[in-house]
Amino acid sequence: MAMQLNKVVPFGRSLDEYRQMFALSESDLARNIIGVGDGPASFNAEMHALGKRVVSIDPLFRFSADDIEWRFYAVVDAIIEQVKATPDDWVWTYHRSPEHLRQNRINVLARFIADYEAGKTAGRYVAGELPQLGFRNDQFNLALCSHFLFLYSDHFTYEFHRMAILDMLRVAREVRVFPLMTLMLQPSPYVGPLIEELQALGYMAQIQTVQYQLQRGGNQMLCVKR
Ligand SMILES: C[S@@+](CC[C@H](N)C(=O)[O-])C[C@H]1O[C@@H](n2cnc3c(N)ncnc32)[C@H](O)[C@@H]1O
Repeated sequence: MAMQLNKVVPFGRSLDEYRQMFALSESDLARNIIGVGDGPASFNAEMHALGKRVVSIDPLFRFSADDIEWRFYAVVDAIIEQVKATPDDWVWTYHRSPEHLRQNRINVLARFIADYEAGKTAGRYVAGELPQLGFRNDQFNLALCSHFLFLYSDHFTYEFHRMAILDMLRVAREVRVFPLMTLMLQPSPYVGPLIEELQALGYMAQIQTVQYQLQRGGNQMLCVKR
């Protein structure tokens, strides 16, 4: 289904946040990585500046830099107000306050926008989407998916999640997904059944607690290996 820009919250995270969310080691960062649903994260841009290659895939990449930037500024203040109105839902350790969060998201967007056109030309930003990524089997070594799967469990079915993770496991031998809770700060009901199903299919699947936390209780990642 074609993505409508006015339904998207184009908030992105930095390389440092990706490192913490996915417990990425230096050797992980040297792997052949696909970022699934990276949106306007600066992960790809910052990795590129370090001489490392990431391919990011997201339906958002059908839009221009101007469109993405326009959409970000159309929603950022309302979202920060929502955050301020729900103080118990957030942990202010990594980001120190709602204003600090806002500034960090602006910085990340600027870094992404500055890299976007060149990255598209170089094939580092690819328009596409789960549950079918359209890359070759084993084209990558590690697939990362942050703030899309599980978070939107109310909008996407269990079957969608199952197909999405199996397709990531087709293109990469290891998949990491963060966080494992929904937008309503509830543990996603899909995580347990999906781990059981993946283990029954012969994959190694385990939950790992990580350093990063912004949504209260959202400090767990799912790691699945072939
Ligand atoms: C909240 S953003 C997270 C961006 C980035 N992963 C991060 O954590 O900074 C969610 C992203 O999921 C993307 N998305 C929506 N539907 C998708 C799909 N079917 N497959 C892959 N990504 C999708 C959106 O375009 C958006 O960029």
